[in-house]
Amino acid sequence: MTFDTPISRKGTHCVKWDMMETLYGVAPDEGIAMWVADMEFRPPQVVQQALEAMLAHGVYGYFGDESKYLDAIRWWMRTRHGWDVAADHIFTTHGLVNGTAMCIDAFTKPGDGVVLMTPVYHAFARVIKAAERHVVECPLTNTGGHLTMDFDAWDAQMTGAEKLMILCSPHNPGGRVWTPEELRGVAGFCKRHDLILVSDEIHHDIVYPGQHHSVMPLAAPDIADRLVMMTATTKTFNIAGAHSGNVIIADPTLRARFARRMTAMGISPNSFGIHMATAAYSPEGAAWVDDLMRYLDGNRRLFDDGVNAIPGVRSMPLEATYLAWVDFSDTGMTPAEFTARVEKTARIATNHGTSFGKGGEAFLRFNLACPRAQVAEAVSRLQKAFADLQ
Ligand SMILES: Cc1ncc(COP(=O)(O)O)c(C=O)c1O
Repeated sequence: MTFDTPISRKGTHCVKWDMMETLYGVAPDEGIAMWVADMEFRPPQVVQQALEAMLAHGVYGYFGDESKYLDAIRWWMRTRHGWDVAADHIFTTHGLVNGTAMCIDAFTKPGDGVVLMTPVYHAFARVIKAAERHVVECPLTNTGGHLTMDFDAWDAQMTGAEKLMILCSPHNPGGRVWTPEELRGVAGFCKRHDLILVSDEIHHDIVYPGQHHSVMPLAAPDIADRLVMMTATTKTFNIAGAHSGNVIIADPTLRARFARRMTAMGISPNSFGIHMATAAYSPEGAAWVDDLMRYLDGNRRLFDDGVNAIPGVRSMPLEATYLAWVDFSDTGMTPAEFTARVEKTARIATNHGTSFGKGGEAFLRFNLACPRAQVAEAVSRLQKAFADLQ
């Protein structure tokens, strides 16, 4: 079993393949699902074994005693990210969209502004709007395929109604690994405008060789009194269906506010997620992630070489994530035209750039976490679908 081994997910009730026909008109037998951000791979053996042990026991009651789980998180953060996290700062939510929603609920009121650096992961805006807060879009600058922050422009945008900012670090889409200087810039921005910062670091292990992710608590220790950090095993190990994530808060006042909302919402851990995460955060899990990143590195090179050969199409060089952010603006086509070629001609389902906010209009997001042969097939279909541009 290697990352090259194809595993059919059709008919398993997975959203990526089994909802593709309904949402895109692309049937799974002829199409390629490159949208939803999960992978086509099984997690490491150590995670499978943890689940097998649960199945063998066969009684699935409520979870208790988080000590091993918290030790595993602390080990992972120390060995992989150089960060010593205190066990009593860690909350377990039902994933990080849930964690984000809980932060919005705990730290803002209806009508408050929540700042996003767009284009950014689409669920943030969905949650903010549904909670009757306002999305405040601070556009990232795209300089030759490299996203950067423009604090002067963002300072001028602030009105005082903004209470919270959500940072995506590394960034989805576009795959930036923010530098410590950029992260300190975000910290300064939050101080100037009195914002609580929620740093969503769910992609922090999906970082390519040669890149280094800095966790926000280390990059900007001076904002510990306004920082909420979020991490999870679910992206790293492809166990998103277990709906489990960590919200980590050092400040006692913020922590007490969050703890009250957890109680008010009746949130308690999912035992499947906890057992899988405890197994994953281990030396075996770490070795698997290193192999995964070498494999994904090959996929991104193959994909970028192939699509960048199409005149007018450019894939942003990824520093992190397996989510290629592809710019079609120089094809001279409207979003409807290039999207139709990708979906109707190439039969590939992607995430549409418009759903990520301002700056995403001319883009599609392609998920590269699949066997390399599937990336090769997608590239070949894209080259054919845009052959008239050659
Ligand atoms: C930045 C970011 N946060 C959160 C999530 C989803 O988190 P969860 O599945 O834990 O709700 C994603 C999924 O793609 C993501 O990209």
